Amino acid sequence: MTNDFALTLLHWFRENGRDLPWRQTRDPYAIWLSEIILQQTQVKQGWAYWERFMRRWPTVEQLAEASEDEVLREWQGLGYYSRARNLHFAAKQIVALGGFPTTIEGIKGLKGVGDYTAAAIGSIAFDLPAAVVDGNVYRVLSRHFGISTPINSTEGKKEFALLAQDLLLPALDKKGMGAGLYNQAIMDFGAIQCTPASPDCMNCPLMESCVAFRKGRVAELPVKLKT
Ligand code: ADE
Repeated sequence: MTNDFALTLLHWFRENGRDLPWRQTRDPYAIWLSEIILQQTQVKQGWAYWERFMRRWPTVEQLAEASEDEVLREWQGLGYYSRARNLHFAAKQIVALGGFPTTIEGIKGLKGVGDYTAAAIGSIAFDLPAAVVDGNVYRVLSRHFGISTPINSTEGKKEFALLAQDLLLPALDKKGMGAGLYNQAIMDFGAIQCTPASPDCMNCPLMESCVAFRKGRVAELPVKLKT
């Protein structure tokens, strides 16, 4: 590994990473369910829902056999109900495929799964080397590397996706494994350390290499264009 940024993140994650129930498994069904719940829901609220779904429908075959009404009722309180309808539809897709897809393109073929969710599931469940890019990642990368390209511009999306992927590859071990660990490290780092409003810069292991911190620009980044 020749990447101090990734090395520091992984070290931070070992000390500070959250102990979440879906991190105790490599079952792609369990991981997919957690990622759909977390698309628009905070970990704190989503946790209990994930446990209830897993208890009621421990396998994708069981979820596929449920009725849509049952799934929607179990989803009640989480909002964005299209997630629940897509989840149920995708469960049937997975069963029809004969199992969970094991490539990024295959995972993206599931209803309700976009780039971010496919990279999260693929890396965590199968160690596929795909970098996640979400609000947390935009914030961490724009600050650490001092990038003021707007994150919601076409150019910015491309630039951050390329950078995220460039940082991921040298973070993998000799066997090419470790993408899931790295992705979850940057997710938690953004959620816990490099937060939007009051990041904990004084206790940050990346403070010395952080361009935004050195230039006093932390509060300005990331840049987002008004639409
Ligand atoms: N947010 C989205 N996916 C997550 C994950 N796997 N762990 C923590 N927070 C997340």
